[in-house]
Amino acid sequence: MSDKITVPLADPRADLASLRGDILTALARVVDSGAYILGPEVAGFERALSAQLGVTGVVGVGSGTDALVLALLALEVGPGDEVITVSHTAGPTVAAINMTGATPVLVDIEPSTYCLDPAALEAAVSPRTRAMLPVHLYGHPADLPSICEFAHGRGIAVIEDCAQAQHATISGRMVGSFGELGCFSFYPTKNLGAVGDGGAIAATGDKLVERLRRLRTYGWAKPQYAELALGRCSRLDEMQAAILNVKLGHLGEAVEQRRKIARLYNEAFADLPLTLPVEREDCRHVYHLYVVRSDRSAALDQHLGGLGIGTGRHYPFPVHVQPGLAFGARIPAPLTVTETIVGEILTLPLYPSLSSEQQARVINGVRTFFGKS
Ligand SMILES: Cc1ncc(COP(=O)(O)O)c(C=O)c1O
Repeated sequence: MSDKITVPLADPRADLASLRGDILTALARVVDSGAYILGPEVAGFERALSAQLGVTGVVGVGSGTDALVLALLALEVGPGDEVITVSHTAGPTVAAINMTGATPVLVDIEPSTYCLDPAALEAAVSPRTRAMLPVHLYGHPADLPSICEFAHGRGIAVIEDCAQAQHATISGRMVGSFGELGCFSFYPTKNLGAVGDGGAIAATGDKLVERLRRLRTYGWAKPQYAELALGRCSRLDEMQAAILNVKLGHLGEAVEQRRKIARLYNEAFADLPLTLPVEREDCRHVYHLYVVRSDRSAALDQHLGGLGIGTGRHYPFPVHVQPGLAFGARIPAPLTVTETIVGEILTLPLYPSLSSEQQARVINGVRTFFGKS
């Protein structure tokens, strides 16, 4: 491993450098406004994102994890209920289900997109299934048309985990607008990243929007301030919303830049013994993470580290082997694909501010590992 990583895996500071002036102006506006909680910045951001997604409303919350928990609570998911999701995901997807007292039911993924395999649902569904929680992993949409058809035909709700896929589409329609609820994270390295924590829930139907607004603020309902439900305190911060308002206007360009770099990588690696990301015909992949697979991924990882190139593994341990997450989970069928790919995956640097020189270094680094110039 080189002492100095000169091509980091992610670089959120560089990603926002061109917007720095606008961001500082927006932050000063908040400081001067005196409206520090659920003020005009949060309301404006919720309206703008809601219009972009084409949903009834968006409710800004404290993080992507809170978005998932509150979405489940808004559907009144709790002890005795089951929620179907995947084991190959970031831990918070499953932690959120555990936090409500419901049972996670873990199913396998498609080997092409690494997202929930709709063919696994039949064996997983039970009379206790209250919701499905597909994850649009790495920025590629899960097969929502199939998942929603299966779920909605049985009266089961769909919550989309869009933390890694903001701006991804299926047949031109944005993810987050297919299920009853769509959950977003604004963790700084995400496609729409804040300068701190933040999250949001997109909801279809006035009742869900209203319920989420109460749940994020103690369960209060105005004007009486009576606690109508057991709520939380999880509000999108006004400062973060001001930053997100600046960045939302540039999200399309940022995603296009990610897609451009992904195309370049795909071409440069086409002759190598690597499994490259796929983009399903009707889908738009937003490349939050560029993940390749190889049976030599550990050696490739070391080789790139030696060249000062940052890499990652998303994720080195599937949820079902992590004691802190897997407790109480039901696993109706073997997770064969999940267990096969976990030792093969490697994430390469890809983000909007990655310079041409850095892109060339990643490409050369990978190619020289396989003995190609
Ligand atoms: C798929 C997925 N779900 C949920 C989360 C949780 O988001 P946050 O870190 O904002 O709580 C993340 C972020 O790491 C994620 O990648």
